[in-house]
This record gives sequence, C-alpha cells and structure tokens, in this order.
Amino acid sequence: MSDGFRDAFGRDPEGVWAAPGRVNVIGEFTDYNDGFVLPIALPHVTRAAIARRDDGRLRVVSAQLGPGGGTATLAEATVAGLEPEAATGWAAYVFGVAWALREAGRPVGGADVHIDSNVPIGAGLSSSAALECSVALGLRDLFSLRMSRERLALLAQRAENDFVGVPCGIMDQTASLRCRAGRALLLDTRSLATRQVPFDLAREGLVLLVLDTRVQHNLGTSAYAERRWACEEAARVLGVRALRDVEAGEMRGALARIDDPVIARRARHVITENARVLEVVRLLDAGRPREVGPVLSAGHESLRDDFEVSAPELDTAVGAARSAGALGARMVGGGFGGSAIALVDAGRAAAVEAAVRAAFAERGFGSPRVFVAVPSGMARRLA
Ligand code: GLA
Repeated sequence: MSDGFRDAFGRDPEGVWAAPGRVNVIGEFTDYNDGFVLPIALPHVTRAAIARRDDGRLRVVSAQLGPGGGTATLAEATVAGLEPEAATGWAAYVFGVAWALREAGRPVGGADVHIDSNVPIGAGLSSSAALECSVALGLRDLFSLRMSRERLALLAQRAENDFVGVPCGIMDQTASLRCRAGRALLLDTRSLATRQVPFDLAREGLVLLVLDTRVQHNLGTSAYAERRWACEEAARVLGVRALRDVEAGEMRGALARIDDPVIARRARHVITENARVLEVVRLLDAGRPREVGPVLSAGHESLRDDFEVSAPELDTAVGAARSAGALGARMVGGGFGGSAIALVDAGRAAAVEAAVRAAFAERGFGSPRVFVAVPSGMARRLA
C-alpha cells in the first residue's frame, strides 16, 4: 500500500486509513424516507494513503482505476477551485469529500492521496461510500478537524449528492463509519440514532452468502432518482413529512388515498420494508436468526413487484438459492444488478452456491461471485 503511494508521489504517506463496504441485511430504499436500515460492514475495504501538501493541490491516484475508469493516472485539482460535477469517475468522490469539508467551513489543505480497494465495484456493496469514508477520515485526522463519525457520514453523503450528483441516502456512509464486528447496525435515518444488534450467525450454524451477479444495468441512477421522487410524492399526497410516518397498521387506508397505482406500490414497499426492519431486529434480539429468512424473502418480493428495482439475474440468484434450501434471500442495494444475499445453514452453503452457479449457467448469465459476509468493523486508521 505505502509502496503504491511511494511509487506515485516519491515520498511516504503520513497515514493510511481503511473504510469498509457494506451489505444491508434489510431496509432497502427506506433511508431517504426517514426510515430504518440494518446494514453490516464487510471485511472488504478501501484504503487511502495520504500525505498533506502545502500548495493547496489535491493529487489522487488509484491502484485499480484511472480517474475516468481506464489505466492508473493521476487526477489533480486545487481545493479552492473545486466545483460540483467538475470531475468524473472515482476521483470525483475524493474531490467531493474535500469540497464538502470546504463548504462546511472546515477547509482542508492540499494532499496526495493513493487509493487501493478490494471492495467489488458496481456490485451494490458501497464501494463509493468506502472510498468517501476512507478519505474523509484521513483528511479529518491529518487536518485535525474535530468532527464526529455521524457528521463525517453526512459530509460524505453531501459529497455524493451535491458534488458527484447521486441522490443517495445516508445508509452506506453510516454503515462504513459506524458498524461493529459481529453486529448489525440499526440506524434510524431520521434521528441518526444507532444501536448495535447481535449478529453472530456462526454461533447459530448459519451464514449470510453474498451472491454478486456481476451485472449492473444502466438504468441505475435515473431509476434511483425517479423512485425517490415517487416516495416524496406519496408523502406529499398523504400529508406526512416522510413515508416513515405511516405505520404498517394504517397502510391500507393511506394507500387508498393515493390515486396513482404506481406511486401507491412504491409507498407500499417503503411502509412494509420499514416494518420488516423492526421485525428482523426483534428476531435477532430474541436469538431467533433462522426466522429472519422468510422476512428477507418477503423483502425481495416487495422490491421486485412493488418497487420494481430487481433484475433477471437477481431474481434468478434469489430463486435458485431458495430452491436449494436457503432460509431466505433478497436483492440488496440500489437494484438493477449488483448483489443478492442468502441466509443459509452453514452445511447447505456449498449446495446453495452450486445451485446459483448452475442457474446462471443455464440462463447464459456470466459467472457470479459468491462469498460469505462476515460482519466486520468500522472505518479506521491503519498506520
Ligand atoms: C443505495 C444508496 C443508499 C440506499 C440504497 C437502497 O445503496 O446509496 O443510500 O438508498 O441504495 O436501500
């Protein structure tokens, strides 16, 4: 890691920070409706090696990708000159963090930044939040900014919303900065209150498999913004601040007041999904993780039929996993590709993986990436 920094910049970094990707156990598209989410951090991390510069310039290099996605080259800007949407590709996330700090009245000086990541990109596992959070934590420490992790997550989200131009919620950045090993993080996205929920699946003889389809359909960003708009429209029609304010028990009456059937379905997903998060937390608290399975599967059906953000590859992965004996399975993240998860008895994991691979081969899909999601720790300084 430091070698990459030395090769790029001809000196040593002052420090190295790592921030994890995440999978969300349950609570999809609830984060921009003021609702609940329940992510875990992955062992996969993005590392940022950083050293300050005294000329106000930011220079960034990635071991994996050039700034626009090609081979490794350097992207450069001045902190003072950063403007939203001026940069493209992964470097925009780095510049966006410096910009968000500057806009928040916490300006940072220049820096050399070397990025190295093993978080799969485009897999719905929050490689972008991992990138933002590794850089945000590093800049905070090096420039001695006194800011809480809660505040840093909001700044990283602002970078993505207003600099990169992706209208994401607060889940991914909070997961990267605040998850603990062996726990799932219950986050109330309205108050930003968190609670660490026991998630020791190994003790129960269970595993959570990640089934990365390795496809990402292009609709992604525009459909994400369109769904977000539909949710805001539903809240407006219902006269509530956000869909979080509609209880599951009042859902029928509420949905009957929404004329547009598509918007009503979007709202139904959010209202039922919020209830599913609380149900999963109740089961985990009660030491009954096996029973989480059917709740995950119900979440998938809701994402597929009501929110309409699934994809053939995701439905195939979920269907094959369930047929092979998974206790439950669902797509995760922003949808239209990326990954699914399956809750599986440890002894069935190999059979479930084989069934998913066979189903993909049969449909002519590319080979999926399958791994066990071990709930891991939050972003941290490594050196
Ligand atoms: C993406 C966004 C998150 C969240 C999920 C869906 O990962 O970045 O904020 O909205 O989609 O739950």
